[in-house]
Order: sequence, then structure tokens, then C-alpha cells
Amino acid sequence: MYAFPKNFWWGTAASAYQIEGAWNEDGKVLSIWDEFTHQPGKIKHNHTGDVACDHYHRYKDDVKIIKTLGCNAYRFSISWPRVLPEGTGRVNPKGLDFYNRLVDELLKNKIEPFAMLHHWDLPLELHKKGGWTKRFISDAFAEYASVVVHSLKDRVKYWMTINEPMIIYALGYFTGEHAPGIKNIFKASKAIHNLLLAHAKAYRTIKSVHSQAVVGIANALSPVYPQCETDARAAKIAEAYTQRLFLDPFLKGRYPQLIEKKLRLINWEIRDEDFALIQNTLDFVGINNYTRIVVKKSIIPIPGFAIVQPQTDNVTEMGWEIFPEGLYRLCVWLRDEYGNPPVIITENGAAFNDVVNEKGEVVDTKRIQFLESYLRALHRAIQEGCNVKGYFVWSFMDNFEWAEGYTKRFGLVYVDYPTQRRIIKQSGKWFSKVCKNNGF
Ligand code: FCB
Repeated sequence: MYAFPKNFWWGTAASAYQIEGAWNEDGKVLSIWDEFTHQPGKIKHNHTGDVACDHYHRYKDDVKIIKTLGCNAYRFSISWPRVLPEGTGRVNPKGLDFYNRLVDELLKNKIEPFAMLHHWDLPLELHKKGGWTKRFISDAFAEYASVVVHSLKDRVKYWMTINEPMIIYALGYFTGEHAPGIKNIFKASKAIHNLLLAHAKAYRTIKSVHSQAVVGIANALSPVYPQCETDARAAKIAEAYTQRLFLDPFLKGRYPQLIEKKLRLINWEIRDEDFALIQNTLDFVGINNYTRIVVKKSIIPIPGFAIVQPQTDNVTEMGWEIFPEGLYRLCVWLRDEYGNPPVIITENGAAFNDVVNEKGEVVDTKRIQFLESYLRALHRAIQEGCNVKGYFVWSFMDNFEWAEGYTKRFGLVYVDYPTQRRIIKQSGKWFSKVCKNNGF
């Protein structure tokens, strides 16, 4: 039996753009993802999140399903352009009302809401003014945080500021695979610093509005391995850019030492006094973990490493290597490197090619095996003293998987998009037992 600590949070996660739909309803205006997906060629099959899982209209039934899954927590995100159409200033009461109703529904069903403020859907208006590349964005983000937290603070205790800031700067501003589709290393370096500032300012704002709030971030974390011995240094550099960048500033008060000089060279807007603001602004570290990263050295000085595909068939539909030991390694690393901060696994899960059988069931054995192996690794980390408080499966239901559109299914609940029918997969039934028994 793998028993988990008392009062452990068991949940599932989803995000606004990926499930809500209602992209232009009730006063919501465009986010960078609305604009990006509407450009032909950016997303597989030119899919968009216009309708997605229609959760905006079906949230009550969806909460019922979450209840059936038996979790004691649910992670959702708030759409910034639904609440503040211009990004700052004017509030859209109908947008705010949606999240109030969602939270009420969750609480009525005894499900603890974990609210994420920003899961990538930046208001287009702010992007037009420079978005994450401009310093003003951190104040705009704090203003947005203040509006949302004022409205929900009597009912929501657990908050997260930004989902995967590393993916925002790397895919949004460096490779351009994600919205806003920019490929510019100078802009990427500015985005890094402004994401750090935005988190810090929002953290301080939330705490001033709601002193009982517990506030974290959700980082994309994957342990980094060298392809071979001679790539050891490249692996350290990759670790700095992909793992430490959104940990060291918060927990050590500085940029990762290995890349600090380079970053200051390409971003002359970094001010030393910023770090006093940035440091000590995490009540917990959220880990989004799926796989590991394998790298080799690269002659291009920045970033100085290249990601390679590990030589294995042990992968999910995303092509991501199944590597449960990585989750264990991450937890132990946080324990030893950063003084064992409280940790919540804010995302873990897998995409597989799910099909509905003649009986109308989805038998996703591979997903069960995947989750079980990662939970065993997590259990081991907890046994060894890691301060882990909860675990959220990505995702509650199948949804819009960014550049992959609807072609990748991560849900514990299957979504038949043409009819919007939901079917709880075998993995969902399995997970509900895990939640109920606080282990397996
Ligand atoms: C993470 C994202 C989440 C989802 C999963 C598969 O990077 O935070 O929205 O797309 O990957």
C-alpha cells in the first residue's frame, strides 16, 4: 500500500483557454491565444479554443463530474481578458461573475479551489503595448491580481500566479511555437525578468489583500540529463535556463550564477533592487512534471545547449519519455538545493490515443500505469522527507492542447467534441479510488 500524508490534496487541473470556449461572450475580448490560433498554420488542423469543451456554459455539470471523481481539490485558471478586457482599468463584471459562480459550485461540492491567475491567455491589448517584454506588465498583473483576489478572497485560499513562466519565455518569445509567436532572444530575456517581477508584485499584492492566502507558482520542471559525459556542462547550463531561472531568484534572491552574466548582457533593464522584491515570494513551489530533458552541447553561445530526443520507445503520444524517477529526483533536488520548501505537484499526466469502445467505455490502461508509476516515485520522495502537499493530474478532461490542437488527449474524462459528451475514463475511475483511499 502506498499511503500518502494526512490532509493531502488530490486534484485535477485545467486552464481557461483550454476548456472554457465562449471566446467572445459576455464582454470577453481577445487574448494572444485567440489571435494566434486564428492565424492559419499555427495550430495543428487550425484548431482554435473558440468552443473548446464549452466549459463556460457547462461548468455546473463539469463540477458534478469533478465531484464524482472524488478529488478534494480542483485547479482552474482565470482568463485575464474576461475579467479586465483591456488588461488594466475597466472591470468586466460578467467575467468576474463566472469565476464567482464556479467557485461557489466547487465549494458547494466540498472541492477546494486552487486558482491560477495566468495560464498564458494574455489580453491582446497588453501584448500590443509590448506584453511580457515591457516592465509595465508587472504592475498590470498586480492590478489584475488585486481585482480577482478582492472578489474571491472570502472563498479562495490557494493561489498560483503564473503557469510555467519558462514555457512563456522559451516558446512564446524565443522559439515562437506558442503565442505570441516571437523569435527574439532579447525580447525573451526581457520577458524572463518581467515574469519574475510580475509574480513578485502579484504575490505581495495578494498577501496584502488576503493575509491568509497561500500563494505559489506552477513551474515546468524536468530534471536535465547530459546525452553523454562530455555534455555535462551543457546540462548544467540547460538546468539554469529551464529549471533554476524561476526558482533561484525567488528562493536565493539572484539569477542562476551560471547564466547571470549572459542574461545581464542581453537585458540591460535588470535592476539590482528588483531582487529584494523578487526574493521570498513563494509559499509553495508548484511542479508541473511530465518527463525529463536530455541535452547536448551546442556551438551557439546562447543558450549553449540543444535538447535531444532520448533514444527510447517508452514515450506518450506527445513523444515525451515516460520517466517517473524524474519526479522523485525533482522533489529531492528541491529538498536539498532549496531548503525543502512546500511542494505541490500542480500537473502530471499523459496523452494517449484514447478510443471509446463498443460498450461506450474508454479503457486507458497505459494512463493508469503512467500515473501509478509517477505516484510511486512521489511516494518515495515523501518517505525521504520531501515536503509534498498535494498532487494534481493534468488534466480533468481532454482539451485544447495548444500547438497540438485537439489531437492530444490528456483527460481523466474523455470529451467527444462534436457532441460535448463527457465519459469518465478507466483512469478517472482508478484515480477516484486513489483519492478516496489517500493512496493505492
Ligand atoms: C503544460 C501546460 C498545460 C498542458 C500540459 C500538457 O505545459 O501547463 O496547459 O498543456 O503541459
